[in-house]
Amino acid sequence: MAEKFDVKLSEKYYMPDPSYKQNSWLGDYQKAYNDFLKDPDGFWDRVAQELHWFTPYTKVKEWNYPYARWFTGGKTNITYNCLDRNVANGRRNKVALIWRGEDGTERIYTYRQLYREVQRVANGLKKLGVTKGDRVCIYMPMVPEQIISMLACARIGAVHSVVFGGFGAAALNSRINGAEAKVVITADVTYRRGKSIPYKRVIEEAIINAPSVEYVVVLRRELDQPVEIHSEMEVDFYDLIKDVSQECEPAVMDSEDPLFILYTSGSTGAPKGIVHTCGGYMVGTYYTTKYVFDIKENDVYWCTADPGWITGHSYVVYGPLAMGATIIMTEGTPDFPDPSIWWRMVEEFGVTILYTAPTAIRMFMKLGEEWPNKCNLSTLRILGSVGEPLNPEAFEWYYRVIGKKSCPIVDTWWQTETGMQMVTTMVGEPMIPGFAGKGIPGVIADVVNKEGKPVKPGTGGFLVIREPWPSMLRTVYKDDERYRKYWNTIPGCYAVGDLAVKNAAGYIMVLGRADDLIVVAGHNIGTAEVESALVSHQAVAEAAVIGKPDAMKGNIIKAFVILRLTHSPSDRLKKELLYHVRITLGPIAMPSEIEFVQSLPKTRSGKIMRRVLKAKELGMDPGDISTLEE
Ligand code: PRX
Repeated sequence: MAEKFDVKLSEKYYMPDPSYKQNSWLGDYQKAYNDFLKDPDGFWDRVAQELHWFTPYTKVKEWNYPYARWFTGGKTNITYNCLDRNVANGRRNKVALIWRGEDGTERIYTYRQLYREVQRVANGLKKLGVTKGDRVCIYMPMVPEQIISMLACARIGAVHSVVFGGFGAAALNSRINGAEAKVVITADVTYRRGKSIPYKRVIEEAIINAPSVEYVVVLRRELDQPVEIHSEMEVDFYDLIKDVSQECEPAVMDSEDPLFILYTSGSTGAPKGIVHTCGGYMVGTYYTTKYVFDIKENDVYWCTADPGWITGHSYVVYGPLAMGATIIMTEGTPDFPDPSIWWRMVEEFGVTILYTAPTAIRMFMKLGEEWPNKCNLSTLRILGSVGEPLNPEAFEWYYRVIGKKSCPIVDTWWQTETGMQMVTTMVGEPMIPGFAGKGIPGVIADVVNKEGKPVKPGTGGFLVIREPWPSMLRTVYKDDERYRKYWNTIPGCYAVGDLAVKNAAGYIMVLGRADDLIVVAGHNIGTAEVESALVSHQAVAEAAVIGKPDAMKGNIIKAFVILRLTHSPSDRLKKELLYHVRITLGPIAMPSEIEFVQSLPKTRSGKIMRRVLKAKELGMDPGDISTLEE
């Protein structure tokens, strides 16, 4: 089988066991992709037919560049597909959600229990006067009520705007105001590393200048010491659902009605409220959950993302529940009380599919393989990665130490804006470390120049998507001009803003954001590429690279490096690292400076904020740092 795969370049690749392909929902990738190309609307129609519509759509797609409408005329409710349908179709007593608190507290919901809780909260929200189209801000820790609140909004057609529970008051305030939220759902505390962290001050500050807010619903967790958040507007979560009915008919939603807004940071300016709709988003996330993770009835699926991010929206909540899967959610941090906590969870619950981020994988690499090696990980069958380039070193480690060389890794490229996974190596296909893969069936991804012309294999360019897809963003909330920019930058394409390179076999390697590009002496160098080279040295745990203006070369490269615990900083090691990059990438990519550091500025979702490093280095104002982790 291996010899059929000719990558033309000299990349190393891994062939998954043929049984993966034989038993997958997808079958043969190329055949599925050709079927899509032959009849794109027919392809998406078949997927959408697997879901329930109160009224069938009359058209699969209407494309009026740059505006798309999907499944027009169709009426549905995503919670009907996530809950009612599963309860009715034999999954009534199947476990929907296993939640584990930091202190080991466990809560388990069957589909029927989740269904009832969602309806109660939906009825509670109705009591507060929330109706279809109203915006509800959800600012919560990773507890079941976070998911239940999202689904409750969707049940009654309210538009949720989930704000990651680690954001500070100013970030929360601007998001509440941006969406003009009528209700904020929150909690009194979150637990982190054995401590309870109150939300009180953040909430109080965030709602001072937020005239749209009428109620603040507070989930009390510290029952012994009740904290008041904001007395006049405050409603107790449990009071809200005390005397309500357990039945709440799903609102009949038009396919193009908004389902949620999710704020994401733009490369400049205020965060953008990305708008996703009911029908297309439902179809896109259902489809990818089914085919990319190849979820089967008995899988135990764990996506470690917080539902405060798009990964949590699409692959903790909506996609997996629409598939009727068993999902896992934890509130704790991955290295508390010790770095084996995740692996103990895998062993205990028999996790079969694990989806996480490269930053977590690299952290575990740094901490050492003795932690996962203590646990039985043999239930795992598919591993996933998302959020940033999975550098070959991290891929190899994930593949070997966690997957025991037998689990396919799906390195999934996508964005808040795309709503669903777009580029990956489908389960069963040959995997090349460092390369995310190809467009999934349904997605036309390409690497092009500024004019939109495909670039040759091995040449860097801009990653683009050529045709609309169901779960694409429909607009930027109250700022359609910013939406149009996505489609106006590169002729005929949706410009994602990432740099990428394709190999001869069509595999795409994402190099990093276009704005992270460094031009050194006329050569384009992706920060991710240099970082990946540094991380491939045995002494390096993590690296971040920036461009520094230089009179001679335009820019020079500066690298910030976190060493593994086994190594200490020295001039000799610096030289060795420079030599290593020179050998790996060539002299042009060699940093001019290396600084050893203890930590790197990161967003709360784990992305390195090179902009902040650069500003600090150049003594400039770092700009908006509301997404920066403390
Ligand atoms: O630069 C790409 C990177 O994350 C960006 C999207 O960020 P966000 O909207 O926060 O969504 C993250 C979770 C989907 C992309 O433009 N990115 C995401 N996945 C990958 C990636 N870069 C490389 N490889 C990936 N698999």
